[in-house]
Amino acid sequence: MNNYLATEYLGLKLPHPIVLGASPLVNSLEQVRAIEDAGAAALVMHSLFEEQVLADEAGVQAHVTSHGEAFAEAPSYFPAATDYALGPDDYLEQIRKIKEIVSMPVIGSLNGRTQGGWIDFARDIEAAGADALELNLYFQPTEVEMTSTEIETEAVEIVRAVRGHTQLPLAVKLSPYFTALPAFVRAIHDAGADGVVLFNRFYQPDIDIEELDTLPSLRLSNSSELLLRLRWLAILHGRMPLSLSCSGGVHTVEDVIKAIMAGADSVQMVSRMLREGPAIIPGMLQSLQTWMEEHEYASLAQMKGSLSYRNTPHPEAIERANYLKILQSWKP
Ligand SMILES: Cc1cc2nc3c(=O)[nH]c(=O)nc-3n(C[C@H](O)[C@H](O)[C@H](O)COP(=O)(O)O)c2cc1C
Repeated sequence: MNNYLATEYLGLKLPHPIVLGASPLVNSLEQVRAIEDAGAAALVMHSLFEEQVLADEAGVQAHVTSHGEAFAEAPSYFPAATDYALGPDDYLEQIRKIKEIVSMPVIGSLNGRTQGGWIDFARDIEAAGADALELNLYFQPTEVEMTSTEIETEAVEIVRAVRGHTQLPLAVKLSPYFTALPAFVRAIHDAGADGVVLFNRFYQPDIDIEELDTLPSLRLSNSSELLLRLRWLAILHGRMPLSLSCSGGVHTVEDVIKAIMAGADSVQMVSRMLREGPAIIPGMLQSLQTWMEEHEYASLAQMKGSLSYRNTPHPEAIERANYLKILQSWKP
């Protein structure tokens, strides 16, 4: 493939923007080969979790204590160390094996929410041969005493700690639920992140009204989830020297084009890959190239951020104006 679709993400030069996002597909080397053969630009490992590392090191009690949950049944909420597809050592070994069979960049993934020894794994993931690291700060606050400042300060300190453990390019995968996301992203950047991944998906359990229980549901995404990402990509693009990756709701080539126009340097796909497998990638790349040629784009770089707020002096005013216009547009 020529350089027409080339992009740069976390300092990695990629032939095109379509990356396999964090998913269990990487547990199988056969799948990994299929992903490489299909021509993915890079792959993200599924996460190594803070709770998993703690459970592995010190038994289940350790991570319960770390989360301050003193009640007796708490251990049953977490998977046992043996429930994870790959233990911490196996995880590092899987990175080594994957690096042996692919030429695309491999991005490790650490997932946690408190400062602690699990962060040492950033160094191990680098030693195992990963080309970059994604840090997922998935956290759902429930304590009324915990303020947004405390949550953000802890998150920034985790980024700083991870930065202190590795030279790898570092992306932070965020939730959309921060009050002042641009300021928070700047703080993460100042703490040493090279990029952000927008966004985590929150798995929202339903309630079983007969059994009086919650029903955890793993629902794959659709393209409607892209809209939230487009807004924040457009707001953040070009505001600071930071790579942007879009995760969530990228299913079609039109979704890819929208994410790039909003300002993404790469797009991560998971749900569609889980449903249909990586064999969809060549067709998507062909359609992307054809669409861009028909619309006379000289390169992907020319298209990138073309619909962002980069050159808009007052994005807040535009957001507010659009909000008012939309409300007024409804006719009975
Ligand atoms: C089965 C499954 C496993 C996932 N595992 C991880 C993971 O280990 N770490 C992570 O950061 N995200 C994980 N994700 C989230 C995806 O990387 C991605 O952010 C999310 O699915 C949104 O992208 P999509 O709309 O293309 O599915 C997982 C998603 C699914 C469906």
